[in-house]
This record gives sequence, C-alpha cells and structure tokens, in this order.
Amino acid sequence: MKRFENRTVLVTGAGNGIGRATALRLALEGASLIVLDREAAAAERTAADAGGGHRVLVADTTDQAALDAALDQVDQLDVLVSNTGGTRVGNLDQLDPQSFDAELTLSLKSAYAVCHRMLPLMLAAGKGTIVFTASVNGFIHVGNPAYSAAKAGLLQFMRAIAVEYGPRGIRANAVSPGSVRTSNHSWTRRQEKDPQVFEKLAKWYPVGRVGEPGDIAAAIAFLAADEAAFVNGANLVVDGGLTAGLAPMIKEFVTED
Ligand SMILES: NC(=O)c1ccc[n+]([C@@H]2O[C@H](COP(=O)([O-])OP(=O)(O)OC[C@H]3O[C@@H](n4cnc5c(N)ncnc54)[C@H](O)[C@@H]3O)[C@@H](O)[C@H]2O)c1
Repeated sequence: MKRFENRTVLVTGAGNGIGRATALRLALEGASLIVLDREAAAAERTAADAGGGHRVLVADTTDQAALDAALDQVDQLDVLVSNTGGTRVGNLDQLDPQSFDAELTLSLKSAYAVCHRMLPLMLAAGKGTIVFTASVNGFIHVGNPAYSAAKAGLLQFMRAIAVEYGPRGIRANAVSPGSVRTSNHSWTRRQEKDPQVFEKLAKWYPVGRVGEPGDIAAAIAFLAADEAAFVNGANLVVDGGLTAGLAPMIKEFVTED
C-alpha cells in the first residue's frame, strides 16, 4: 500500500535523525519529497537515498530571510512534517535569557515560521495535514527547561491549528518521542560523557530500549496518512511506555506476597 502516492511532502530537518527516517519512510510509500535542512550535504544525501527526483531546500528555519527564500519555491503541499528542534541547555542553572530565547526560537518559533508560510497554500487548496515533532519534554520534566517549554508550546500551537483550521480541511497532530538514538547535539554530548548512555537509559523504558528514528517515522506516517482522517489535534506519545508510569520505582516497593 503506497499511502503517499501523488502527495508532496515537506520535511524540515530531514538531513539526519528522525526527519531523515521520516523522509525515507514517506518516499518509500510514494511521496514526492521536499527535503529541507540547514546542512546542504545532509539534505542532498537524504534526497538521494530516498531514490532521487526529490527537491532539496537548504535553509536554517531560525533564519527568517533564508527560510522565506527557500519556501518561496514551494507552490503546492499536501503534508508538512515540522521537525526542526533541539536543545543545548540541560537545567535551570545553565539557563540565561539569551539561551532561553535561542531554545524557543529553534523548537517553537521556527515551527510557526514554517507554518506561517505553508498554511496559506493548504488553506487555498482546502486540504493538508501537518505533523509536528514534539517531545515527552512537552509534558513531563526530564531536564532541558526552555526546550521543554518550547515543546509544550508547540503542542498547544498544534491544537490551535487543529481546532481553527479543521473546518477548512487541515489536520494537525504531533508525535512526542521519548529518547531516540540520533546524533543530535545533546545525544552527542551525552555519548561523549558516557558511550553507554542509550543502554543505561533502557531501564526507564518498559519496552527495554530507547527509540530508533524509524519508530517515530512510522507514527508520523500514520498521522499524515488518509487513514488518520479522524485524528486531529492529537499528541501521539511514542516513548515505549516511559511516561505511562515509573518502571524503576516499582522495583523499590514490589514485595513477594
Ligand atoms: N532524538 C531524541 O531523543 C528526540 C526526542 C524527542 C524529540 N526529538 C525531536 O525530534 C526532532 C529531530 O531531532 P533529531 O534527534 O532527529 O535531531 P538530529 O540532529 O539527528 O537531526 C536534525 C536535523 O535537522 C537539521 N536542523 C536542525 N536545526 C535546523 C534548523 N534550524 N533549520 C534547518 N535544519 C535544522 C539538522 O541539520 C539535522 O540534519 C527535534 O525537534 C527534536 O527536538 C528528538
């Protein structure tokens, strides 16, 4: 079944990690991709690995002028996967006004900037669907305070689109991943400190492992596909059960009788 045949799909941050896995997954299911990333080589690699014939846009979503110049080239869009985001600030002690602003710009404002340009195309066509990459950080605190605030804001922005533009043919949803094995800035730093970090984190995950980019791509593909026609305004948590409970805590108080 090719769920995205004859569909134009823009994936932001598609050069690596979750965005790349999503682009490859959707291309496999027939999508015509627009691969956007700030790293030209990574974007080109994703487009080539997706089978060729796909478009590449090189822009930083936090740079309004560059983003506008890139998105000017898009005149029709069925699916937007708004995926750029990230964090460099681990806790409140490390946070200051500048870094707070930078975290919100990358993980919230840049998503708005992309939607601001792409929603008019979808509204004019009377159809379209948007999937945001949020995070479990958007609803539990596991560090990265400003990033978490941004992801919480992203979930609420998603709901605004779902409610206000649902009647005009637009669906908006989000995925909220737990830890996913990618090479983003924070994981690279954590792995430098402890190469076994993903293995050590597994104990927090009821399924016994952290996520892989393909786990998230599969959920994004579902939300973007027509079979999810009645799913609008949803936050699909893709975290192996992390936020369903506190698995390590149970070990502390379970008794034999
Ligand atoms: N990896 C995780 O554990 C995890 C967990 C929850 C949520 N997320 C979210 O998933 C999304 C993707 O994260 P990832 O781990 O796949 O990252 P990644 O670093 O592996 O890949 C991100 C890609 O996006 C590009 N990019 C980053 N900022 C950009 C910008 N401003 N403009 C254009 N391109 C940009 C990078 O060049 C890179 O190719 C982010 O929104 C992140 O917050 C990740």
